[in-house]
Amino acid sequence: MSNLSSSNSFLARGNFPATRLRRLRRSPWIRRLVQENSLSVDDLIWPLFVLPEGSAEDSIPSMPGVSRMSIESAVAQAERAVSLGIPAIALFPVTPPKLKSPDGEEATNPDNLICRTTRAIRQVVGDRLGIICDVALDPYTTHGQDGLMRDGYVVNDETVEVLCQQAIVQAKAGCDMLAPSDMMDGRIGAIRQSLDAAGFLDTAILSYAAKYASAFYGPFRDAVGSAKNLIGGDKKTYQMHPSMSDEAIHEVALDLQEGADMVMVKPGMPYLDIVQRIRTSFQVPVVVYQVSGEYAMLKAASERGWLDEKSVVLESLLGMKRAGATGIITYYAAQVAEWL
Ligand code: PBG
Repeated sequence: MSNLSSSNSFLARGNFPATRLRRLRRSPWIRRLVQENSLSVDDLIWPLFVLPEGSAEDSIPSMPGVSRMSIESAVAQAERAVSLGIPAIALFPVTPPKLKSPDGEEATNPDNLICRTTRAIRQVVGDRLGIICDVALDPYTTHGQDGLMRDGYVVNDETVEVLCQQAIVQAKAGCDMLAPSDMMDGRIGAIRQSLDAAGFLDTAILSYAAKYASAFYGPFRDAVGSAKNLIGGDKKTYQMHPSMSDEAIHEVALDLQEGADMVMVKPGMPYLDIVQRIRTSFQVPVVVYQVSGEYAMLKAASERGWLDEKSVVLESLLGMKRAGATGIITYYAAQVAEWL
């Protein structure tokens, strides 16, 4: 005779277990009612890659579904972002090789591609859309590093001076929020002071505070054309080692002290423990960047029919919200806004 029907079985007592968590999972209405975290269009930031006038729009082989677009298309996509309710876009320039130089002077040209694009978008969207511009030299340097190279090393303080000028030309062009992605020491404070001195008191800073030296950036470097020429092959002397956790807290503490308005963790999925630690340590907005390599993985598996795209994308973003993200940069932003 089986245990199940014997009189001293836990089943026979009829009250086992007292707590049944499945009660709150029985129907869609109750699952909705108890839901702890949710994803909304308000969480999304959409990155766009922009090409100079006269170049043919093209797709990025390692990022199917993402294209490098003209300024006019970027304006159209910005309007689409507004109509989808996406709060902000992040712009990245595809600089033609002839405009790249060892010291990346094009970064501080007030009429460079990113400034032209920002002005064009601003004219059309007014204040209905946030425009975020990256601060770093890699789109502009022939060696693909984020700063100035002296004797094979990316030098800190001299780079920071150039980043301050880059920040100012972008602020002048109408960018709402600057996102320094370069990981030089002290750049947040220096950029904040430069902006204030130039009268841009309300231009915000979203610091890439915990940015790791990650292999997940590969497709992005293909997209902006900095992969093939990346001298040194990596950015490990300034981006963080993937083993580091306490150091992320230290980075965030410094950036906040220096005047960052929001901080970022990048990449996303492999670093959600860092997001959670930052949210528990500091009561500030934390943005997570679902980077190009994460996009490529989700896309590739979906294209092969190995994963259900909509489900895995929404799950990956909800996981970021659960970890504590207050905003998410994702190449899926427009698609997600449509799904939601
Ligand atoms: C450049 C920059 C990178 C990304 C955003 N800004 C690449 C890098 O640091 O090499 C990566 C974004 C992505 O992979 O989606 N400073």
